[in-house]
Amino acid sequence: METLARLVTSSIGRKLLVAAVGFLLCGFLMTHLAGNMFLFVGEKAFNTYARVLESNPFLLPIELALLGVILLHAVVALYLNLTSLAARPVGYAMKRSRGGRTWGSATMVYTAVLIGVFLVIHVKTFKYGVRPSPEDLYGLVMSYLQDWRWALFYAVVMAGLGLHLSHGAWSATQTFGIDHPKYTPLIKGAGLAFAVVVAAVFTAIPIWACWFLGGAR
Ligand code: HEM
Repeated sequence: METLARLVTSSIGRKLLVAAVGFLLCGFLMTHLAGNMFLFVGEKAFNTYARVLESNPFLLPIELALLGVILLHAVVALYLNLTSLAARPVGYAMKRSRGGRTWGSATMVYTAVLIGVFLVIHVKTFKYGVRPSPEDLYGLVMSYLQDWRWALFYAVVMAGLGLHLSHGAWSATQTFGIDHPKYTPLIKGAGLAFAVVVAAVFTAIPIWACWFLGGAR
């Protein structure tokens, strides 16, 4: 508790916290993406996966921890952003990121807001939405993603997520002091590859559901 208090009261501590929590969220994204791959296998496989997941007695504490981690990441990152804006003299034009200004770094706040709004809608519709039958989460997901407007919304958000990750992954490694003339370009490339793969595979789900299963209705 004391360590956490010390972390959130210093600027570098806050940056480390945002970076560490960001890595945790990447872990969640990868497991969520892996679970969603059952959608490609079919209705029976995905509903069985959902049943196993939902019958886990640790699900509620895990969900609460996830909510806490998401809020911590968002609130501390927003605070850092606002304080850095306030500390910057008017007309300040220097590059803030050592990686240079990229689309990812320039749009970080906007993609964060997009992901936040998406999460509220996503959890409301998929977690608390009405299923065709209690055991049919696949049917609920498909009822949304086979509609081209929802599929498009998902594709746009996933592009935003990719942009956010492309800068976030790189920036987190910098915060942890991982900086070496030889390995830094490699780490930067790995962060970018991670962002592109996660965004592309998540995007493949609504595209596949809408165009191949739903006939783009
Ligand atoms: C096409 C992409 C996606 C699909 C098909 C999908 C599917 C789902 C489904 C079916 C659920 C409900 C699980 C249940 O009730 O058992 C869910 C929950 C959730 N999803 Fe996604 N998801 C996608 C993308 C994302 C992304 C990109 C994020 C994060 C940025 C995300 C974050 C969450 C969260 C936080 C929950 C609530 C988890 C819980 O409380 O158990 N999802 N998703």
